[in-house]
Amino acid sequence: MSDTDLQRRIAEAIQNPKNMGELEGADAVGTVGNSDCGEMLRMWIKFKEEHGKKVIDRATFQSFGCETAIAVASLATELIRGKTTEQALSMSGEELAGDLGPLPPMKIHCSQLVEEALRSALQPSSESRPCDAVKQATPPAPTDAPSLLGNLGQASQTGGGFRIIMLDEKRPTEP
Ligand code: FES
Repeated sequence: MSDTDLQRRIAEAIQNPKNMGELEGADAVGTVGNSDCGEMLRMWIKFKEEHGKKVIDRATFQSFGCETAIAVASLATELIRGKTTEQALSMSGEELAGDLGPLPPMKIHCSQLVEEALRSALQPSSESRPCDAVKQATPPAPTDAPSLLGNLGQASQTGGGFRIIMLDEKRPTEP
């Protein structure tokens, strides 16, 4: 896909982004940030029972992200509907980018941001896959998760309150 074609698809996706905003009563929430480019993304997920299986009923997102991350999140939140946790977790960043197709190398971390937000929501206690570009923030409890905007606003007022952990960060060694 040419750069122009990709730009057009991204522009189309962000013209009317789907599933943007906080999801009330979400069962899971995941937040990731990338301190290199300053983008952040939070994803909320709600499940339902279907044919005896727990599947994703709805997913929404908020982003202080680039247009590519917003476009991918918009597509991804549509694509994971009706999937089980395992099925959603098995999707790669490229699959989550849907119609945007394979992204150019400098944009791959944008889809990884979405992939890691999904992973953070669905597997909050497990290690995310190593990714140099993506740093994972501590996910808040689903029941009282503030909006990303509120979260950052609060952090700026208090001078803290939002911690970003680098995935490749080494834990300090015990004395
Ligand atoms: Fe960093 Fe897109 S430029 S997430």
